[in-house]
Amino acid sequence: MISIKSDREIELMKHAGHINYLTHLEVLKNLKPGITTKALNDIAHKFILAHDCKPSFLKYNGYPASICISVNDEVVHGIPSKRKIKNGDVVSIDIGVEYKGYHSDSANTYIVGNTTKEIEDLVENTKKSLYEGLSVIKDGVKLSAIGKKIEDYAIEHNLGVVRELVGHGVGTSVHEDPDVPNYYTKDHTILKSGMVIAVEPMLNLGSEDIYECEDEWTIKTEDGLPSAHFEHTVLVTKDGYVILTGE
Ligand code: MF3
Ligand code: CO
Repeated sequence: MISIKSDREIELMKHAGHINYLTHLEVLKNLKPGITTKALNDIAHKFILAHDCKPSFLKYNGYPASICISVNDEVVHGIPSKRKIKNGDVVSIDIGVEYKGYHSDSANTYIVGNTTKEIEDLVENTKKSLYEGLSVIKDGVKLSAIGKKIEDYAIEHNLGVVRELVGHGVGTSVHEDPDVPNYYTKDHTILKSGMVIAVEPMLNLGSEDIYECEDEWTIKTEDGLPSAHFEHTVLVTKDGYVILTGE
């Protein structure tokens, strides 16, 4: 069942989304060579609590940290650790924030220092694919149009689209109906104003193939090439959409 949010629920989700955005800024400020991913996690954790919110991911299905940090060939769900960030790393930061029982979910990928043109393009094009996907959203449009746009954009730029993980509805749980794939499907679900969904393309420089690590969380690319991930939680409206996890 896909929930339609009331005005009150939308206000709470806007707040959760705003704190999510501010948490991303706080993490970015500290993202420098030498810092550990655990230290970044702790900065986000404290920031979220200081704003009267909770980290949505902590203990979600047993997840052991407050945010996900996925470096280089790690696609998503990297667990913060003693690992130190290095110059040239591709770092995906995924944050969930809960305010009064309502969630927001957002991810960004950053390049620390310098890297190759190829990897810069990977990150830039993954971000663009998210906005391409969002661009079709409005009341009455098929949800499958989002994935079609993202997939077409990825193919055009020769990037692998991760298929095993998808976007999702967001509300009183961080993951709700519907699934929002980053590729075309024959799903007939129609977007309705008041729905809130997270769109989150994960694109790989090489093949789309991935595997789960022994920690049972971290997802890596099969070929060891880097991956990027961008995600926004958005509200569907009559004429378009509102990003809840942006400025
Ligand atoms: N943003 C992530 C997603 O939608 C949620 C992380 S799940 C957690 O896939 F379990 F790691 F928290
Ligand atoms: Co998500």
